[in-house]
Amino acid sequence: MPAGTARLVLREFVADDEAALVGWSCDQRVTRHMPLAPCDAAAARAHLASLLRQQSQSSRSTWELAVTLAADGTVIGACELSLSSSSVAEIGYVLARRYWGQGFATELARALLRLAFEELGVGRVDSTVAVGNTRSMQVLEKAGLRWEALRRRHARARGRWWDAHLYAVTRDDWRLANPGLLAPDGAQRPSSTDDC
Ligand SMILES: CC(C)(COP(=O)(O)OP(=O)(O)OC[C@H]1O[C@@H](n2cnc3c(N)ncnc32)[C@H](O)[C@@H]1OP(=O)(O)O)[C@@H](O)C(=O)NCCC(=O)NCCS
Repeated sequence: MPAGTARLVLREFVADDEAALVGWSCDQRVTRHMPLAPCDAAAARAHLASLLRQQSQSSRSTWELAVTLAADGTVIGACELSLSSSSVAEIGYVLARRYWGQGFATELARALLRLAFEELGVGRVDSTVAVGNTRSMQVLEKAGLRWEALRRRHARARGRWWDAHLYAVTRDDWRLANPGLLAPDGAQRPSSTDDC
């Protein structure tokens, strides 16, 4: 599952990533629109411990991966790809503040879609975004997801209810937008040496 893009490498988290994870988890500008994110150092450490345990599970349905710079290995954020069912996946991402505004999140979202459709073979990918998280909505739209619904009271966290927008892209729409990337349903795409 770990993969990459032209500028990024996605890999499993390791214990040494604690400082980076604590860094963005304690930055309120980063966690402001993330109801379920760890929001302090203790929660970030507990989250990392649970991620490390998750990696050894035999039947895995969630991949929360470290996002690193291909150039030097710096950990700049995290992303998640999870299976909600055998045919539907969900994606999410977070970047440390100093790495915003450089197109990394859009590149990352596109890579997650490619993993979901090509490696997991799902028919649809969802992402839910807290109302007001304009930057993330722009990322999803640039990556090819479309707005589908407003989910009121989507989650309760940090003492309040959060409304969220549901974005999604189907396998058919993704195939149309990315001709040549995806083999027809049921066929395996040959392994390649390119970025994903
Ligand atoms: C959501 C989040 C990852 C988006 O980050 P972002 O920097 O806005 O998105 P991108 O990395 O795709 O960068 C896009 C920007 O980079 C610019 N950019 C610079 N170089 C670029 C390049 N080579 N390619 C594409 N865009 C580039 C774009 O013009 C755009 O700038 P703008 O924001 O001024 O319009 C970030 O805001 C974040 O981590 N938020 C907190 C966590 C969160 O909310 N996660 C989502 C939960 S669903």
